[in-house]
Amino acid sequence: MEPIIEVKDLYRSYTTYRGSLRKQKITVEAVRGISFSVQPGEIFGLLGQNGAGKTTTIKMLITLLAPTSGTCRVLGYDTFGQEKYIRPRINFIFGGESGVYRRLSARDNLRYFANLYRLDPKERERRIDEILELVDLTDRADNLQETYSKGMTQRLQIARGLINDPEVIFMDEPTVGLDPLGAHMLRQVIRRLRDQGKTVLLTTHYLPEAEELCDRMVILNQGKIVATGTPAQIKGDAATLEDAYLNLIQKGETP
Ligand SMILES: Nc1ncnc2c1ncn2[C@@H]1O[C@H](COP(=O)(O)OP(=O)(O)OP(=O)(O)O)[C@@H](O)[C@H]1O
Ligand SMILES: [Mg+2]
Repeated sequence: MEPIIEVKDLYRSYTTYRGSLRKQKITVEAVRGISFSVQPGEIFGLLGQNGAGKTTTIKMLITLLAPTSGTCRVLGYDTFGQEKYIRPRINFIFGGESGVYRRLSARDNLRYFANLYRLDPKERERRIDEILELVDLTDRADNLQETYSKGMTQRLQIARGLINDPEVIFMDEPTVGLDPLGAHMLRQVIRRLRDQGKTVLLTTHYLPEAEELCDRMVILNQGKIVATGTPAQIKGDAATLEDAYLNLIQKGETP
């Protein structure tokens, strides 16, 4: 089967300026030559310490950031140059960021985003009701977002990320800020998406969650991949995934 996500020898660096006059040029190599592929219908995890390069990788995959070198393909198209074929068919959910309009209700937020995807009005209303139900926001759907708790806002984000019925969904720390029940609900949503044949790529710092959800994963350390495989393969002889993870990270510099 053709991979739905294919990353080959991908690099990304950032240039920043430091010092009192911001004259000192600093290059940060965020992603340093990574390769992996994801098959349709997989839940695929991207794990690693703060600053490992996970969000940078996701931003390249969702066509928001150009690679410094290497290739990054989604649904068979280059994420840089062919983004117009990719964008309608994917979506993303970033944990802990707002990205929705405070002065609109959940329903009106979803109408706004549905219109960006040019959903037909009848189909739009049906889809909005269905998603509100899925994220358990039906009761508060007509209140302004500014009256929502953090977790409710996060659930609205999740709804926004599903509005165009994406084939591939990218989730960067999607359970951040959710209470245990909300996180449980989201994991169920993620599994249901896989059962519908969707592909999900997610990051999380919560290793039991990664173990429970992911079919396969990569572990990034300082911009390089230090392990790839199923949770069981990565665990190997270690007692827990966390032990295996810590061993990999503490080995320090990668080969
Ligand atoms: N816009 C930017 N300008 C300069 N440096 C950046 C920028 N964005 C990210 N970086 C740097 O790139 C590296 C990777 O960052 P990235 O956000 O991809 O990590 P991450 O794995 O998502 O971390 P976290 O778990 O904290 O979210 C870090 O050293 C970070 O400081
Ligand atoms: Mg990040």
